[in-house]
Amino acid sequence: MSSNTEELTSNGKTMSSCINKSATTTVTSELESGNNKSGEPATVTPWEVSGKVDYAKLIEQFGSRAISQELVARFEALTGQQAHVFLRRGIFFSHRDLKELLDKYEKGEEFYLYTGRGPSSGALHMGHLVPFIFTQYLQSAFKVPCVIQLTDDEKFLFAKPRKGGPLPLSEYMKFGRENARDIVAIGFDPERTFIFADTSYIQHLYPNVLQIQRLTTYNQAKGIFGFTDSDNIGKHGFPAVQAAPAFSSSFPQIFGIDSNVRCLIPCAIDQDPYFRMTRDVASKMGRHKPALLHSKFFPALQGEGTKMSASVQESAIFLDDTDKKIKTKINKYAFSGGRATVEEHRELGGDCDIDVAYKYLTFFLDDDEELERIRSEYSSGNMLTGELKKILITILQKMVREHREKKEAVTDEVLDQFFAIRKLKL
Ligand code: TYM
Repeated sequence: MSSNTEELTSNGKTMSSCINKSATTTVTSELESGNNKSGEPATVTPWEVSGKVDYAKLIEQFGSRAISQELVARFEALTGQQAHVFLRRGIFFSHRDLKELLDKYEKGEEFYLYTGRGPSSGALHMGHLVPFIFTQYLQSAFKVPCVIQLTDDEKFLFAKPRKGGPLPLSEYMKFGRENARDIVAIGFDPERTFIFADTSYIQHLYPNVLQIQRLTTYNQAKGIFGFTDSDNIGKHGFPAVQAAPAFSSSFPQIFGIDSNVRCLIPCAIDQDPYFRMTRDVASKMGRHKPALLHSKFFPALQGEGTKMSASVQESAIFLDDTDKKIKTKINKYAFSGGRATVEEHRELGGDCDIDVAYKYLTFFLDDDEELERIRSEYSSGNMLTGELKKILITILQKMVREHREKKEAVTDEVLDQFFAIRKLKL
């Protein structure tokens, strides 16, 4: 199914009507991700990512920490394997309390992983894959349990007005199940992974949701999320629902009712506001603050700073795209850092900093030496844009094809196993 009802920005994030003009200003001023070099403000919120993001500045403004080479080396030492390509290349670039979590892990203290998806459409795009691929890697490297939240409630409450009226809640619930098929296909361990949709698991989250709501004032929520008086009241209460899974007692069947197991949350940095609130409340609840690992954004085909719409299929690669569609989209729409003519290109070389095909390779071409060879050939003018795109097309087609095959094996029965409320292997 590829009912892409959401509208995406250049960074593949949903633009939501929940932020009206004045709220956007509030959010932008509070969560401003730093002006880019040309001075335009970039916006990073859970509902909107636009403009060219200055990630170093974002770390300063959000108050997180850069992932150092030393931390990457520590990952390698602890897991006994080369660090994931997303860590090696700085795609996961920022963290909160990761050092502390690893210190405790070294001393034998367990942790669990928590991540999620807001099912606003039936198909995931390549950007959504980033945190899930990384979470799956962490699960297999550390052999830890993982919980995955599908916020069908969030997408219902925050949906922007659309022609034909709002989608019924049941559609978001269906999208959630469809998205779960894609998530399972990434390779999560069935013995260690629990997937839940808020609408069906809420009773188990509710005790923690209530604690969080009681400890968070309306002013704090407004400050963090930019809510206004005209937003529906469901939006105001929702952040507590995304916060609750960061506390292990939300999963009594896995960790026990009074448990306080440490939690690590991999996500793109747009989700950080939810977890700043969570961390604040954790201290008041006498619980461990969740640790976080933040990724950069996988850019839209048209490049950073452009806006793309999912109703315009050509603007992103979706996991249900055919080989032919992938080829057409990359060839026609991937913003190129190549020069106007072959002669000029040979003389000046391509610009890898703005070239979308090259950017995509930095995410999905594992081989460091091959990536370096491509970078050097392209920027020296030896490699033309068409050749660069051809390499990317082959890689993406293979990835999406393999994903499709794995997804076909995710039957309803397999899916039900992941959704079953049960004990996990610890
Ligand atoms: P959602 O559905 O917007 O996105 C799902 C996950 O994908 C990340 N993401 C991206 N990463 C890289 N490049 C992109 N272009 C890109 N677009 C999206 C998001 O950061 C997210 O990690 N409210 C959440 C669902 C959620 C959640 C969580 C996410 C519930 N609990 C815990 C992370 C951790 C949402 O709507 O995600």
